[in-house]
Amino acid sequence: MTGAGKRITGPKGAPLVGVFPQMKRDALGFFERTAAEHGGVALLDFGLKKIYLVTAPDCIQHVLLDNDRNYVRGRSVDSARLLLGNGLAMNNGESWLRQRRLMQPAFHRQRVARFARLITDLTDETAEGWRREAAAGRTVDVADEMTKLTLRIVVKSLFSEDIRDRLDELSEAFDVAQHFIYWHGRNPLALPLRVPTPANRAFLRARRRLDEIVFDLIRERRVRDARTDDLLDMLLAARDEETGQGMDDRQVRDEVMTVFFAGHETTMTMLTWAWYVLASVPEAERDLQAELGSVLNGRPPVIADLPKLGYTERMLQETMRLYSPTWIFAREAVADDVVCGYPIERGASLLISPYVTHRSAAWWPDPQRFDPERFTAERAKGRHRFAYVPFGGGPHLCIGREFALMEARLIMATLAQRYRLERVAQGPVAMTPQVTLRPKGGMPMTIHSR
Ligand code: HEM
Repeated sequence: MTGAGKRITGPKGAPLVGVFPQMKRDALGFFERTAAEHGGVALLDFGLKKIYLVTAPDCIQHVLLDNDRNYVRGRSVDSARLLLGNGLAMNNGESWLRQRRLMQPAFHRQRVARFARLITDLTDETAEGWRREAAAGRTVDVADEMTKLTLRIVVKSLFSEDIRDRLDELSEAFDVAQHFIYWHGRNPLALPLRVPTPANRAFLRARRRLDEIVFDLIRERRVRDARTDDLLDMLLAARDEETGQGMDDRQVRDEVMTVFFAGHETTMTMLTWAWYVLASVPEAERDLQAELGSVLNGRPPVIADLPKLGYTERMLQETMRLYSPTWIFAREAVADDVVCGYPIERGASLLISPYVTHRSAAWWPDPQRFDPERFTAERAKGRHRFAYVPFGGGPHLCIGREFALMEARLIMATLAQRYRLERVAQGPVAMTPQVTLRPKGGMPMTIHSR
């Protein structure tokens, strides 16, 4: 037992269902109110199940870093496991550590720099398409546009040209599988996969197709001599320093699916909100243009420009503060523990919500205000490093962080130099918290050439 500690409080719930209806009505508002009224560790009563909401930076640090071995992914990722198997974002303990060590070098800043050209080339294709949209005065859904672009980037980074004739099939099957696991995760009463419901059958069909495509690509690569230096090559070449062992085909398949899944929806959400900010905050638009003008002066960005695009980076960081793509993630306690003086029992579920922490006046002055200068070295000094966790923290810190930040800066610098996007609707856009934090109804905008 953990012994006595501070008593954890939380919002009052209804009999049997607890706070579930309140959360269902407005999850973001409900979590924000809970943290404001009940502090950095609050208790959510879901009837049969109790969950802790951890939002104070020092308590987050305890869970993700100081005592991270006590907190595993647990049942919260059971649905995603149906698709991602034992990929890095699902994995725990020794197996996780081994995989993380194998994969880490491929995601190092210097190694991901090799994808810069691929990113700007694919972004140029989007820019060409936008020229036609701008001339025709058509409205586009920027969330869709960013999805298509980031999807092509992740697919090409993984498989180079090998996938070209199977790309549509892969994307469609992935879409079906991804929607299913999202739905499955929110429906505790979903029937086991062996029950042939239409939803289960559609998912299994999509997963079979994905497996065929990915296993084929892996096998083709294993027998080929020439190296292509894409992420699949890096995964196949990775060797354990001590044992010299690599991954088997099944593990490579799981990691490929994981990178595919984790690598584009998050980035596309960040970019979609960045376009929203630029269209809504005139100073952000002005300062970004000033920087792009002085550093690039109309030419396309290259990797060497990134250190000079400081405002672009701060603008994206501030976008992720207010619109954290991963708005929530979970852990499960392996043994009894004390978090910030509060007793947490073995088996307890914990939720960490970057969205709530990033918008709390306790850690961020004037939190609703969009102010990229919060991220200058000067202003960041003294701020708790776990007050800003869009990529998580501790040993499980997002492995794709460098890739995502490079990708986002190159895309914004390329497109914002050539186009100004204008919102079709007025007023603030509603947010829907799904796997990532999405704008409700997409982000319809019109494109104007500069
Ligand atoms: C804006 C873009 C992104 C955001 C906001 C984001 C967010 C996150 C967060 C919050 C975590 C920690 C989850 C946890 O602790 O349970 C995470 C982990 C992870 N992310 Fe990302 N991510 C992004 C882009 C990417 C990209 C581009 C990739 C791959 C290319 C990627 C692959 C992963 C993987 C594999 C993990 C698991 C790491 C581990 O447990 O060792 N992510 N990400």
